[in-house]
Amino acid sequence: MILDGLVPGVAKNVLRMQLEVLVQAMKTKFHKPRWAVLAAGLLMSVGAARSQDNGKIPSSYAPVDIHESFSTILSRMTAAKPEIMKRHMALLEQRYDLSNRPAQGVKMSGGKAVQQGVRVKLASGTTWDQLSKLSPEQIQERDLFPAGFQPLPHPNHPEGGMLFPKLEIDEIKKQEGRDLARFDLDFDFPDHLIPEFPPPIYLTTRVDLGDLSHGKLITMDNYYELFNGILNPKQLEGLRLLVATFPQQQFNATEDRRSERASRGVACFDCHANGHTNRATHLVGDSRPQEFRHRINTPSLRGVNIQRLFGSQRALKTIEDFTEFEQRAAYFDGDPVIAQKKGVNILDRGSQVHAMAEFQALLDFPPAPKLGVDGKLNPKKADAAEMRGQQLFFGKARCVECHQAPYYTDNLMHNLQTERFFKSHLVNGMMAYGDGPIKTFPLRGVKDSPPYLHDGRLLTLEDTVEFFNLVLELQLAQSEKTDLVAFLRVL
Ligand code: HEC
Ligand code: HEC
Repeated sequence: MILDGLVPGVAKNVLRMQLEVLVQAMKTKFHKPRWAVLAAGLLMSVGAARSQDNGKIPSSYAPVDIHESFSTILSRMTAAKPEIMKRHMALLEQRYDLSNRPAQGVKMSGGKAVQQGVRVKLASGTTWDQLSKLSPEQIQERDLFPAGFQPLPHPNHPEGGMLFPKLEIDEIKKQEGRDLARFDLDFDFPDHLIPEFPPPIYLTTRVDLGDLSHGKLITMDNYYELFNGILNPKQLEGLRLLVATFPQQQFNATEDRRSERASRGVACFDCHANGHTNRATHLVGDSRPQEFRHRINTPSLRGVNIQRLFGSQRALKTIEDFTEFEQRAAYFDGDPVIAQKKGVNILDRGSQVHAMAEFQALLDFPPAPKLGVDGKLNPKKADAAEMRGQQLFFGKARCVECHQAPYYTDNLMHNLQTERFFKSHLVNGMMAYGDGPIKTFPLRGVKDSPPYLHDGRLLTLEDTVEFFNLVLELQLAQSEKTDLVAFLRVL
């Protein structure tokens, strides 16, 4: 079969996508979930039957030897790109209002406008108020849980891999002549919905200096000039390694790379831009098969010094471990075989990992001028809505049960049991199912890091309040939701 000539795994995924289209078509045509379930069953069994057909069994491994030339892969995947992007952008449009609507006078730490308003679209004929009065079972039964509250797929979930926003790609090309563009995929969220770029950088050791980025993206080109005389030599070496490139899964010299030119690789700070984040995306490495992997949003490294668990699901215990182990397992692919093939750079624990971790532990949260030493509002500086929001946060809205002051995290993980609200189903090659236990990300500086949740499924702080209003069954009034948002904006 022609399909079998493709990279293993890809053929199956193509077939799957076609069947998903069928599932969607049946859903729209018959409005009967029964059909969808039937077709989904078909989907799974065809996958299984196919593997038996050609004697193949499901594998945890990615293919190592590639039997197509780079130029064939390049032209095949470039040709497939418009259709894949169209499908994904249609999904975003269907779920969200992606428009540019800045909140009056509310800025991120470096001055970029914070976006306002609930952006997740409701199923037609419902209101947020009505929805919050239903039980999770009723919401599931009537299929009313907004699609935007459900797991978000990677722009091409069956393919996955690291994907950078255009702002990052353009700046790295300008400074270093290195191309982080993928020929098969583009980043999906528009610029106004992601963090400011380049973001400010604050150090715990030099609060007197404020933002140390001077408006620049820190790279190999300028790190020394910007930080010599401010850091000690060990930290300076750590920073150098954080902006140094090493070959990675999609960016290397092999036929199965996703950059047009052979690539020198990727640096830690290509995703954790200036120690914050540009929300570059990927798939988490923790689960198999591919459709069960979560999309992940690069988290900010600001304030990692006060955190105790690292990774949304993995719960690594130290920054040193995260730094040392990522590359060895091909970043989020959890695959040491592929890492070795693409050119792994084993870091030395004593002289390199420690230096990198020490620098990361200097990255401070952004200033929050309205908060006192206990991390709560100073009543002399806060306005009435913010004070009411704080009271709700620590009271009726129950946020404090997991987000405790001063940094608004309990350093634990929680299972929000989102599966109470919807039935598992496939979406563009991703299985939407319960998230399981996820790290409580700190809320200090949260206005600086949209979109929210580990996979970036929520675009604004308003969306997060509506989400928790349902998840925690709070039934907050509209004015209470507005006050909570006012509080989140000053953290
Ligand atoms: C392709 C983008 C990308 C690159 C490159 C990258 N990271 Fe990350 N980083 C992420 C993502 C995505 C996560 C979230 C992982 C998860 O949820 O399991 C993460 C998580 C982390 C965390 C844990 C943060 C937390 O709040 O739990 C640390 C620490 C970290 N990275 C450090 C590094 C270091 C050091 C490097 C370089 C060796 C690096 N990262 C390179 C995207 C990246
Ligand atoms: C039972 C524990 C729990 C409670 C209660 C809780 N949260 Fe969370 N919160 C979490 C977890 C876990 C995450 C991370 C979820 C994820 O990434 O999928 C999170 C994430 C968030 C985020 C996004 C952070 C980011 O950087 O992406 C915001 C904002 C937030 N919570 C606000 C609130 C508000 C407001 C309340 C109260 C109405 C609240 N939370 C109540 C556990 C909780």
